[in-house]
Formats: sequence, C-alpha cells, structure tokens
Amino acid sequence: MQSALDVNDDELRQISSESSKLVFEYLTTIAERQVRAENQAGKTLAAIETELSSEGRPLDQLLKECRTVMDLSRHNGHPRFFGYVASPSTPIGAYGDLIASALNANITCWRSGPAGTEIERMVVRWLGALINYDPKASGLLTSGGSMANMIALFVAQRRKSLVNASREGLWSAGQPMTIYASEEVHMSIAKAADILGFGRDYVRTIECDDRQRMRVDLLRQKIETDLSGGLRPFCVVGSAGTVNTGVVDPLNEIADIAAEFDLWFHVDGAYGAPGSLDEAKKPLFAGLERADSVSLDPHKWLYVPVDAGCLLFRKDAAVRAAFSTEEADYIKTHGYTDEEAFAFWDYGIELSRRFRALKVWLTLQYYGSRRIARAISEDIALAAYLGELVSNANDFELLAPVELSICCFRYVPQRGMSDQELDQLNEKIMETVQKGGRAYLSNATVNGKFALRACITNFRTTKSDIDETIAAVRDAAQNLK
Ligand SMILES: Cc1ncc(COP(=O)(O)O)c(C=O)c1O
Repeated sequence: MQSALDVNDDELRQISSESSKLVFEYLTTIAERQVRAENQAGKTLAAIETELSSEGRPLDQLLKECRTVMDLSRHNGHPRFFGYVASPSTPIGAYGDLIASALNANITCWRSGPAGTEIERMVVRWLGALINYDPKASGLLTSGGSMANMIALFVAQRRKSLVNASREGLWSAGQPMTIYASEEVHMSIAKAADILGFGRDYVRTIECDDRQRMRVDLLRQKIETDLSGGLRPFCVVGSAGTVNTGVVDPLNEIADIAAEFDLWFHVDGAYGAPGSLDEAKKPLFAGLERADSVSLDPHKWLYVPVDAGCLLFRKDAAVRAAFSTEEADYIKTHGYTDEEAFAFWDYGIELSRRFRALKVWLTLQYYGSRRIARAISEDIALAAYLGELVSNANDFELLAPVELSICCFRYVPQRGMSDQELDQLNEKIMETVQKGGRAYLSNATVNGKFALRACITNFRTTKSDIDETIAAVRDAAQNLK
C-alpha cells in the first residue's frame, strides 16, 4: 500500500535540489536587495494562494510562492541591516537547520536523541570556554535570550528561597523576593519576573552612570533599604552588552555585592557576551566568570540562524534540583548509565526540543573560533568607525560611547534646535530610512533623547555600507523638508 505522504526518490530529489537552488539564489542576491521590500499589511497574502488545498499543489508553484515570501521580507542578513539585535545566518548554519529537521531528533534527553544530546552538551561547554566563563559549563540551548533569562530567574529563586515554593507556591515565603538590575536591562527580565510571579515591581531598577553602566553604590543602597523594609533580595542581573547602547555593567563589583548579600548573580550576555572574543574588549567582561548563570545567544552575535539561545551555569545540582518534579512514567529512564540518563527536562522548561546544537556546532567548526572572533572584531571596528563619522560631522551628534558594536546618534541639522524638535525629526528620519530600503536603523532612548541606533552584528557589512547609511540619513532629512 502506498503511504499517504511519502514521496518517491525522484520527487525527493526534486524537493531537495529545487529548495537548495532557492536558498542559493537568496544568499547570493541578498546584498542587492532593498533591506526592506516596499510592503504593507496584507500584501503577502494577496500575492499567494490563500485557500487551503485539499489535493496538494505542485512544488514549482509552492517554491514560487516561497520566493514571494522572501521578496516581501525584511532582510536581516542585508549588509545595511542594523536594527534591533539581528545577524545574518551563516549558510552552514541554515543548512544545519535543514539537516536537523530532516533527522527530526527530539532532544529531550540522551535516550531520545543520543547524538544530539552529546553534541548539545559539548557545544554548551564550548560556549562556556569561548566567552571565558567556564570550559566545564553546563547548560542548555533555548529558543533565545528571553527564555534563557527566565530559566535563570526561576533557578535563582528556587535556589535562594527558604520555603518549598515548588509545592507551596511563592506566596508561602510570606515576603516578596526582589531582583536587581540596571535601568538599561533588557525587558525580558521584567517579563520573566511577571510570568514567574515575582511581580514587575520587585525588579528593582538601579540608575546608571553617564556611560549607562549600573551604579553599584546605588545597588548596595537599594538592597539595604529593601532588607530593612522586610523584603528578600535574591538575585542581581548584570548586563554584558545592554540592548540599547551595548555597555557592559561593572561585573566584578556586582559579583562582590552578590557574594556579600548571598544573591544569585546572573549575567545577561544574550547580545554582548561574544564581544569578549575581541582581545581589546576582554577586560570589559572581567567578573563574568563569577556569575552563577550567563545568557548568551548564538543567534545574535555568533551568526547562527534563529532560534538558538543558551543558558550557561556551573552549579549543575542546583539547577537540576530546581526542575526536579514528581516523575511521570514517560520520563523514567530504565536501565541506563548516569550519562545515558541525562535529560534536558531537568534543566529547563521545554520537553520536546529542536536539535538546535547542530547549527551551532556546524557554524563554530566550519569557520573555527579564530574566524568567528575576527568577524566580531570587524563588527566592533565598524561600530567605532560609525561613531567617529558622527562625532566628526557637523550635522550629527554621538549620543553614547560605542563600547561594543552599537552606535547611538542623532541628526542635528542646525545648532539651537530643542531636544523635542530633534526627537521628532530623528523619529521621522528613522521611519523614512526604514521604509526607503537603503539601510535599516532602529531607535533607543539615551538620556531621554531619541537616538538612531545601529547594532552591527553583521559579517556582510563593510565601511562603504556605513558611509551609505549616513548618506541615507542625510537624504531622508533633506526629503523631509
Ligand atoms: C541583552 C538582551 N537580552 C535578552 C534579549 C532577548 O533575546 P531573545 O530575543 O532571543 O529572546 C535581547 C534581545 O535583543 C537582548 O539584547
């Protein structure tokens, strides 16, 4: 009997070669495209078949529609895409995703995905070593930094709680538990505090110095005030590369405070931790090795396709204890050695998990750590170049020091304009540049000012792309007149 969904070898060959051709076409034309196609809501659905087929449709039609989907997308891998924190995917990483999906291993545990589990545990150790955290780091790959941060806060609470919150709930502690982070911390920390039931108000945000780094004197003050007010501080989050301006908090000083007050020390390096691969930037990250846990996203500055986040930690038993649950039959591992009984469900929230490690492994091994480090250093140098351009120009102003690969600046056509006028002008410029498709900048608020923000995590970008971006900003401003 013929299977309902299986295909014969010829069809399989066709799917595989035609899809590969499309990927090749995309990757070889990405730099020639507009960064963002002219688009409006509904345009994609108007361009493809929207009736669900009952009998199936031919491959060539479907791939043609895939081409339409590609054409109508925003191209995060374009050399002049500098919005948010998005990098191009390495070709080998993209094919890694394909291989992982073809294998379709479910990396719940060694029993379910033996090879994938061993690769993931090895990749986690590599990541720990790459950023000088711990070459023996444990951890797991996640969907991204938000998930990694949430798991870290969960483990921190379980570790530092005096009651059995797992069974009795958070409220049984009788006193709110507080988290500390700078006012520049990523929104995922407050969101995790909300989801986990700590409450957003109990994320105590600490003011920053004039370089947007957490003020550790104020951190101490806030902890002491909370302690005397009957609250229970349990965790401090340091940022190793803030999302707005890319600064690294004073991690060593934060680690000292964490030790003094017995807090879990989490470092959010989702964006910035790979910056430590640049020799000149290494000193900024001093103290990261003292963290109890570190988030780091291979899908940001290690150029791996989405999704690939990672949470690193070294107190394996603490993390396992946080997730240990009453066993269900299907998670009992009968007749396996300790290594074979390893299960990722003991370390995170997901049960079914993609084989994310394959694309991380392939990307790291294909290029080698030295070439990856070079790409990161080039991004850092390009951000510094942009910083110099805007500092030296009469019609631009640099709004924050360029510490890693983020540059925040604004267009200032004439002296004497108020901050409010400049905010409005720069917001319009950003919209015009984004819609124009020549380059893509996002925004940040720096010391209350609207900033055009370029985050360069892009191995395709060159100096001429930076020059062209500056020209696109000037042209947008002219066209607004
Ligand atoms: C510093 C930082 N932490 C966390 C995140 C969240 O990561 P994700 O989007 O992968 O959930 C981001 C995203 O940009 C980030 O920059």
